[in-house]
Amino acid sequence: MGLLGIIGGSGFTALPETEIVDRQRVETPYGAPSAELLTLRHDGQEFRFLPRHGADHGIPPHAINYRANIQALCDSGVTQIVALGAVGGIADDCGPLRLCVPDQLIDYTWGRPSTYFDGAGGDVVHVDFSAPFAQVLRERLLASAQGLGLDPRDGGTYAVTQGPRLETAGEIRRLERDGCDLVGMTAMPEAVLARERALDYALLAFVVNWAAGKREGEVGMGEIRANLVRCQDSVRRLLLAFVAAA
Ligand code: HPA
Repeated sequence: MGLLGIIGGSGFTALPETEIVDRQRVETPYGAPSAELLTLRHDGQEFRFLPRHGADHGIPPHAINYRANIQALCDSGVTQIVALGAVGGIADDCGPLRLCVPDQLIDYTWGRPSTYFDGAGGDVVHVDFSAPFAQVLRERLLASAQGLGLDPRDGGTYAVTQGPRLETAGEIRRLERDGCDLVGMTAMPEAVLARERALDYALLAFVVNWAAGKREGEVGMGEIRANLVRCQDSVRRLLLAFVAAA
């Protein structure tokens, strides 16, 4: 087992149940990561933690420095990343509060610096990305969730949209025709940068709303915020179980 890094998403800027062992403000050749890199301890296990949107949740999805975040985790010795992400549900069995461990993604983002291999070093590199999420981490996440009776969804395709606006109902119908089950804004380029740095990466997605047009009416920020809070307990328990089982 290598050193674990957890990337916190919306609603997860800290893990208060754990002990803070160290906090480092680091720099990378790509700039500064979203926040201080924390080293946390739980049940005798140390791991790193980085909140993707910043310590006070001020950085929107399209403005995150994904390259600096992954580089900082990599430089600190992390070899496995579990990323958290709030998502909208598209598939019928992906309603609010469902936990999902996707096995595929489709990237609809644009204009984000999305590779370390941009030609500057003289190398042209094409990484294999057939399976964007590490199966070993997926299985461990699913086992931890099942052990807590959380009924996680095993697999599914995560559509990564640009944001920060939510989608139109027409866009969600298109994503559904493309075979997407979930929609969020942050899994790319995070997942591919982890692959380029040869880090295992898996995503724990938690559904905070029905995607646009999947139910009557608008998608309300009030509903999203309330469901973020409602998901917190199960996501936290799952992470702690995951860390303890390492
Ligand atoms: N769309 C995109 N990203 C999201 C959503 C959504 O409906 N909900 C939470 N993150």
